[in-house]
Amino acid sequence: MKVLVTGGAGFIGSNFILYWLKKYTRDEIINLDKLTYAGNLENLKTIENSKNYQFVKGDIVNKKLVDKVMKGVDMVVHFAAESHVDRSILDPAPFVKTNVEGTYVLLEAALKNKIKRFHHVSTDEVFGALPLHTEEKFNPQTAYNPHSPYSASKAGSDHLVRAYHTTYDLPITISNCSNNYGPYQFPEKLIPLAVTNLLEGKKVPVYGDGLYVRDWLYVEDHVRAIDLILHKGKVGKTYLVGGLTDDIPNRQVVEEILKIMGKGENFIEYVKDRPGHDRRYSIDWSEIKKELGWQPKHSFKEGLKKTIEWYIKNKDWWQRVKSGSYKAYYKKQYK
Ligand code: NAD
Ligand code: DAU
Repeated sequence: MKVLVTGGAGFIGSNFILYWLKKYTRDEIINLDKLTYAGNLENLKTIENSKNYQFVKGDIVNKKLVDKVMKGVDMVVHFAAESHVDRSILDPAPFVKTNVEGTYVLLEAALKNKIKRFHHVSTDEVFGALPLHTEEKFNPQTAYNPHSPYSASKAGSDHLVRAYHTTYDLPITISNCSNNYGPYQFPEKLIPLAVTNLLEGKKVPVYGDGLYVRDWLYVEDHVRAIDLILHKGKVGKTYLVGGLTDDIPNRQVVEEILKIMGKGENFIEYVKDRPGHDRRYSIDWSEIKKELGWQPKHSFKEGLKKTIEWYIKNKDWWQRVKSGSYKAYYKKQYK
């Protein structure tokens, strides 16, 4: 099987490639990645010389290139995206370009090249926000109601993927997943930002009242869900994937990190809130459990401990990532 992975140098994409090549040793992977600030080939060092792995540096918006790399491919797993909500608020343009137009270019090439499966990796943020202190969860019937330029651009891409199935019969699947965390996550997202700031002796910025809720999932569990969808999922279907957390507010997430790292609450700094900040996400993943037998393996406590250990062991990785343009972004975002 020849698999084209887009955005494979990013957080989830690189975890996916490492997992896939270990499990399916006869498969071939082509990784098409533009290497934006979020793409990092260091994540794939252990497999970079494998015979069945090829890296192509390029933009998914480039029609000619996309068409070329898709020749002879069986399956596309599409991770490439601008993925950070705060950056989408600072500048939505690359989000529309990559997430909407890039997905369109991939879909056109997938049709032309008769791809057997196009899997689109999406987010629970397309559903908007849930109220606090309720039992409500996002489910496969929940209507789309995105609030940030990021989630709106992902919603646009989801609709395009579905339309290519309904209109042109392209064999697609979609997964809408909650907040991932784990190794190789860029330290602009809450958990790696908190852990690396603390390792540098800095405070952790918490937005607003810190009572926002996310549904945390260890990245390996997400990758396993995609594997199952690719092998057993129904063509044309959307699967919702979520974690095991019971409405843990951000404040508590940071407190757990402080506890594991032996730091006091004086390391929390409440800062200006994110505009349009979604209050709560929570996923009902009972359908993928029933249909494909998937469920998360990592408790939040276990996943968090593993993640912190990884960042402690891989100081060189995140120190390199946190230099250069990261510093300018941090200053702009948090001042
Ligand atoms: P990331 O930002 O870590 O990585 C994105 C990757 O895409 C990078 O390697 C980047 O270089 C590449 N890329 C960006 N624009 C590109 C372009 N125009 N052409 C080619 N490559 C390009 O993102 P992530 O957190 O790994 O997320 C991967 C996917 O999963 C995204 O589609 C995101 O919307 C989705 N998702 C993420 C989460 C999460 O919690 N991180 C949860 C649910 C869904
Ligand atoms: O829900 C899935 C989504 O999760 C993915 O689609 C996105 O790609 C991914 O970035 C993530 O989006 P969030 O905005 O939820 O993740 P982030 O880590 O940026 O923020 C998590 C929560 O923590 C959110 O309520 C905002 C808050 N936060 C974040 C940062 C960076 C803070 O309080 N302080 C911070 O410095």
